[in-house]
Amino acid sequence: LELLSAAAEMYPFVKTGGLGDVVGSLPKALRPYNIHVTTIVPGYPAVMSGITRREAVGTFDVLGESVTLWRGEAHGHALLVVDAPALFDRPGNPYLGPDGRDWSDNGIRYAVFARTAASVAQGLVPGYRPDVIQAHDWQAGLIPAYLRYDGKPAAPVLMTIHNLAFQGLFPASECARFGLPDHAMQVDECEFYGQVGFLKAGLQLSNQLSTVSPTYAAEIQTAEHGMGLDGLLRARAAVLHGILNGIDIDEWNPEADPSVVFPYQVGDVVGRRANKRVFQAEFGLPQDPDAFLIGIVSRLTTQKGADLLADITPRLMTERIQLAVVGTGDAEIMRSFMRLQSRFPAQVTCHLRYSERLGHRLHSAVDASLVPSRFEPCGLTQLHALRYGSVPIAARVGGLSDTLVDANTAAIYEGVANGILFSPTTRDTLHHAIRHAQMLFRQKAVWARLQRNGGLHDVSWHGKAAVYARLFETMAGRSPRDAD
Ligand code: ADP
Ligand code: GLC
Repeated sequence: LELLSAAAEMYPFVKTGGLGDVVGSLPKALRPYNIHVTTIVPGYPAVMSGITRREAVGTFDVLGESVTLWRGEAHGHALLVVDAPALFDRPGNPYLGPDGRDWSDNGIRYAVFARTAASVAQGLVPGYRPDVIQAHDWQAGLIPAYLRYDGKPAAPVLMTIHNLAFQGLFPASECARFGLPDHAMQVDECEFYGQVGFLKAGLQLSNQLSTVSPTYAAEIQTAEHGMGLDGLLRARAAVLHGILNGIDIDEWNPEADPSVVFPYQVGDVVGRRANKRVFQAEFGLPQDPDAFLIGIVSRLTTQKGADLLADITPRLMTERIQLAVVGTGDAEIMRSFMRLQSRFPAQVTCHLRYSERLGHRLHSAVDASLVPSRFEPCGLTQLHALRYGSVPIAARVGGLSDTLVDANTAAIYEGVANGILFSPTTRDTLHHAIRHAQMLFRQKAVWARLQRNGGLHDVSWHGKAAVYARLFETMAGRSPRDAD
């Protein structure tokens, strides 16, 4: 089966969060199921320099922009690149300009991307015809709209929601510029409260829908988490699937990870201790094995509850607690963490930038990893923590509740707990959860059991890729088959 996967991010070229990880790692996981993935991405500088064995398919006029479509490879997987220098030849974050704001032409940038992907689905690349299309997030949301309006035969589309909060809303006056017909501005098509909604279009006009955890699939059908789209999602509940993300366990292997100073096997809670020691030494924290070292690797935004963590940090500092932060995002939240570091230099270490290396290293060194999200479609950082022997302290929302078992007395007694969950997401509940975790941390056998349970948890793609494979086969009208 040929799958065309369309996304605005793909690890290792462009990644602002988990979307890039998933788009980069799912193709390999689908291979055993005879699903061959071609990923179509915009031609950002990192993609143009990273693509190998490239050959031009052709140069086309797409919505008035000149697009060269390249075919090639990246790390052994098939790539199509939408090379439109006027739109994508910009370094740094794919969506934001140097001033930290959205590029003002994001609408046309991703309309051109989606329009090109739709044409690929219709046969633009000689000899290539996908059986199914997976459109990731709002940037790919117009693909099913173009296919629907063109009325030509094309493969069915699975619209995958990684985050309902990012909807791709643009002024209605741009509708024609995006190549959409006038009637697209209707509530059961692309219109969302008077604007063109790219994600809305995708949710309304695709054949099947998925999101990245069963709990989030249920949550987004409620007014509280539906971001105005819950009605639509309830109406389409029969075709909405919640499929958990996995992680690439070769990339995330503490035994072979170049970012881990002292390599150790998954589940080896003693072997990893040296990593805490060198981490403390290197970042100016006292080398105290009994200090409770907690860390966070995250976009520093309100979704992630980073503001709550900054707010309660002074309260934690009266305890034998150390905090390590690796993240970027909201300028105000970053300033708060800078202030905390100056105020508590022996307890707080902040790395306010994007560093894949430090992200990996942090989970190998800290005792616990924080994920205090207000909402979380899936979350990958808790999976990284589980695999590296750091105990997640997380909000009980979305994919966090699907992947973690709270260390309540019964779960500890039964030996099934692998994290600390709290709810609702507030300053006090977060503070209480960290203090509770610290209390468990002092009970060395209990803590080691939590860590080992984390190592036993299957964070890989195995079972999840099988679910995707069945869905794709069904969409393509074939009877699902199992791995060879
Ligand atoms: P989201 O996609 O909402 O940001 P996820 O937990 O699904 O959340 O994925 C985030 C990904 O980005 C993880 O791989 C995490 O390690 C990574 N990440 C986030 N911020 C940073 C950072 N500053 N440095 C390195 N990695 C980061
Ligand atoms: C989004 C979500 C995150 C999820 C990731 C990958 O960015 O915020 O929860 O893990 O996509 O699906």
